[in-house]
Amino acid sequence: MRRALLAGNWKMHLNIAEAVDLARGVVEAAAGCSDRDVMIAPPFTALSAVAQALQGSQVFLGAQNVAWEAKGAFTGEIAPPMLKDIGVRMAIIGHSERRHIFGEDDAMINRRLRAALEFGLTPVLCLGETLEEREGGKTMAVLEAQLRSGLQDVPTGQAEQTVLAYEPVWAIGTGKTATTEQAQEAHAFLRGLLASFYDKNLAETVRILYGGSVKPDNVDALMAQADIDGALVGGAALKIDSFKRIVRFQ
Ligand code: PGA
Repeated sequence: MRRALLAGNWKMHLNIAEAVDLARGVVEAAAGCSDRDVMIAPPFTALSAVAQALQGSQVFLGAQNVAWEAKGAFTGEIAPPMLKDIGVRMAIIGHSERRHIFGEDDAMINRRLRAALEFGLTPVLCLGETLEEREGGKTMAVLEAQLRSGLQDVPTGQAEQTVLAYEPVWAIGTGKTATTEQAQEAHAFLRGLLASFYDKNLAETVRILYGGSVKPDNVDALMAQADIDGALVGGAALKIDSFKRIVRFQ
């Protein structure tokens, strides 16, 4: 049985005081939910303060990206040991905003993922097709290419610690959610790919989250799908009432 993971991606929102406030709300929301994991990924500027707010709780701290080197001349990047140093446990990698706005390519994403694993951070590897790709019937080919290159040179022992997030680009921040059938189809396809790249055991172990306009009113139906193991939530993670309902999906 895979453990559900409800993750909030706060993107470029919230100052330190707001972030700490929301983090405290998430701790309360997650209290007593011992059968699921909860993660929040604040902006880098709030990580340290949020780490303190999470102390003694079961909520994992996540980063929104991670560099591929331990240190060096990489202006604007944050190294994995720096994140570990302040208590970060997970890192979102290859988010569609990184791919499409900032031009991160598959090779870069693979390097980030391998560095995260090497330094003991759990990567959340994001994958997803654009609207044009979906309408052109290319969804599965795009997912396969992204997964293959994302996991290139990642051995079984590390791949099984990786979390995947299927996030159709056309559903992110648009209010359009993939139907539960579309999401389940993509998740089952990704799980099948994991079985073929590695083995069936690994495929059954790896958690695959859905992301893209997850809200209180669609989370239960999404989570009821056989291959949907959690959610990566943007907009609805910024309000405690909606994120609490998502964390407490039924
Ligand atoms: P959204 O964002 O929930 O606002 O659509 C999801 C994401 O980008 O991870």
